[in-house]
Amino acid sequence: MECLWRSRLLCRSHLTFQLLKRSQHNSCTATTKFDQSLVDRLAAIQEAGTWKEERVITSKQGPEINVQGSKNKILNFCANNYLGLSSHPEVINAGKVALDKYGAGLSSVRFICGTQDIHKELERKIAEFHGREDAILYPSCFDANAGLFEAILEREDALFSDELNHASIIDGVRLCSAKKMRYKHRDMNDLESMLAANQDVRTKLIVTDGVFSMDGNVAPLRDIVFLAEKYGAIIFVDECHATGFFGKTGRGTEEFCGYKGRVDIINSTLGKALGGAAGGYTTGSKELIALLRQKSRPYLFSNTLPPPVVAGASKVFDLLMDGTDLTTKVAENTQLFRSKMTKAGFTIAGEDHPICPVMLGDARLAVEFADEMLKRDIYVIGFTFPVVPVGKSRIRVQISASHSHEDIEQCTNAFIEVGRAKGVIN
Ligand SMILES: Cc1ncc(COP(=O)(O)O)c(C=O)c1O
Repeated sequence: MECLWRSRLLCRSHLTFQLLKRSQHNSCTATTKFDQSLVDRLAAIQEAGTWKEERVITSKQGPEINVQGSKNKILNFCANNYLGLSSHPEVINAGKVALDKYGAGLSSVRFICGTQDIHKELERKIAEFHGREDAILYPSCFDANAGLFEAILEREDALFSDELNHASIIDGVRLCSAKKMRYKHRDMNDLESMLAANQDVRTKLIVTDGVFSMDGNVAPLRDIVFLAEKYGAIIFVDECHATGFFGKTGRGTEEFCGYKGRVDIINSTLGKALGGAAGGYTTGSKELIALLRQKSRPYLFSNTLPPPVVAGASKVFDLLMDGTDLTTKVAENTQLFRSKMTKAGFTIAGEDHPICPVMLGDARLAVEFADEMLKRDIYVIGFTFPVVPVGKSRIRVQISASHSHEDIEQCTNAFIEVGRAKGVIN
């Protein structure tokens, strides 16, 4: 594993060297200047300590993976594979069958010649799972978020967005012409004061992540529903870190908070718990979905989802509607991890969610801690500024239904060993 780290460092300096060499060779063309500006910006990213490396996995996604440069199997605690379905045999097989019957892709957007019966069937299953009238598929949830607000809101309208909402919501909001306001993270007084100051606006839309992925904490849906009723607003929730596994039957934040069916618009991803391949969707009223099919730009101007991806996701919904075993298992595993870690003296943020941020504070400590975990064959990632606030660095552990109790034991034992060595716990 030492080797892996050394080669990654070498790669990084190699890249800088190549870029510098290239820019020194060229004379003063616009391209050279542009390349130099890229070199400067890359160097700034490195200097800021926010350079992102990619580890290369050479196996399927799962609780145990092979990582290039390491001989041992690594226990994976940082995927969004909450239900362990990314490599489920039935999901893989559904993809293979669809590949043979429907081909690799449609070479078209949906409204020209990119809609197959399986796309319609998956949209029906999504709507049924969420108890909504209809659903619309997108190439990703990033696209679903990018395509929603501009299509449904106009100048006469206003939206109120939690300041820590996902980047795709922030980008989607930028594209729309409605009045935009950002309320402090989960601060209902701040939200209320904004709603009160905009009572005459035609449509008021409250926009929030259901579960915030850095902290594993949950939107205060009870209070949001109360305010929506008081001020005549509608509610949008991004359920990427909730659909399929959060709440007793995996119906997400609404179910976890006891407000099933109360949210007006739900966006979610097929790329995390629901098979992990790709794709996103919006689900809600039939009028909402009809308007999105007419106006939403990522839907109208981007290729349709490939048949094997559609069939894999469709199989996931069959599995979910068949029973709640996986949802129960991930909740049990989460409980096990959280209780062992808390007992050992660690602080775990979030609320009963499989995202378990192990709070460490110092940035260097978080990065070095994750390195030490990898030496013990546990794959976790340290999150530091600017992804999280200064002084709130952490290791974000993500629990899956596919982890065994032994996997969790091995992970918590490694945390305890490293935590003691580094003086984080006694
Ligand atoms: C809260 C949230 N919304 C949207 C997305 C985008 O989902 P997708 O990967 O389907 O584009 C993500 C993915 O990281 C997310 O965490």
